[in-house]
Amino acid sequence: MSVRIAPSLLSADFARLADALAMAEEGGADLVHVDVMDGHFVPNLTIGPPVVKAVRRATRLPLDVHLMIEKPEETLERYLDAGGDWISVHVEATRHLQRCLETIRRGGAKAGAAINPGTPVGALAAAWGDLDLALIMSVNPGFGGQAFLRGSVARVRRARAAAAEAGGMAVIEVDGGVDAGNAAELVEAGAEILVAGTAIYGQGDPVSAIEKLRAAARGGVRV
Ligand code: DX5
Ligand code: ZN
Repeated sequence: MSVRIAPSLLSADFARLADALAMAEEGGADLVHVDVMDGHFVPNLTIGPPVVKAVRRATRLPLDVHLMIEKPEETLERYLDAGGDWISVHVEATRHLQRCLETIRRGGAKAGAAINPGTPVGALAAAWGDLDLALIMSVNPGFGGQAFLRGSVARVRRARAAAAEAGGMAVIEVDGGVDAGNAAELVEAGAEILVAGTAIYGQGDPVSAIEKLRAAARGGVRV
């Protein structure tokens, strides 16, 4: 199983996104994680389609767009047009999860569903067949730099098992408080994409921080 590292731009300098993207490429990142927040679903506001589009133009790396917005079905098309390669909606934010997933796939992107720490993994039960990605939040979304919630390791493990049992192909991604200290156990539990903001852009040398995270993650790879 390979591990993919997705630096989260939320912890980067928003006035220097091109530099942050260049560092992600230099460090060998696999994806760039883009956090979209609407000030309603989460108590913070970040960016919307125009900035996602600009980021798309500034890197060759795939964009992993994490939508922390209410009623994502109303604006999904704009994130598809902006160039999201992977797009995740929160199950708590929509009454029409399957419809969202179908829209994302029809738009040519990989479809993801995200769950907050308080949402049981079972909330994904009916969706495994329609999912390319299950995003397990390991903090309550809204801000970077929060402490990793320890129960998330077991939730990743449960999601991995549920996906396998359902015959689904979804990869498991974990987001929030991920660092070199917990990467190995998360990978061992079944995480295949590690999102990290503070542990990368919050460090003096983000390029070597990516390499350090990858080395730590390798310790958990099952062979
Ligand atoms: C949190 C965001 C995360 C955030 C992670 O709501 O979804 O992607 O950037 O940041 P760290 O790695 O600092 O917890
Ligand atoms: Zn995120």
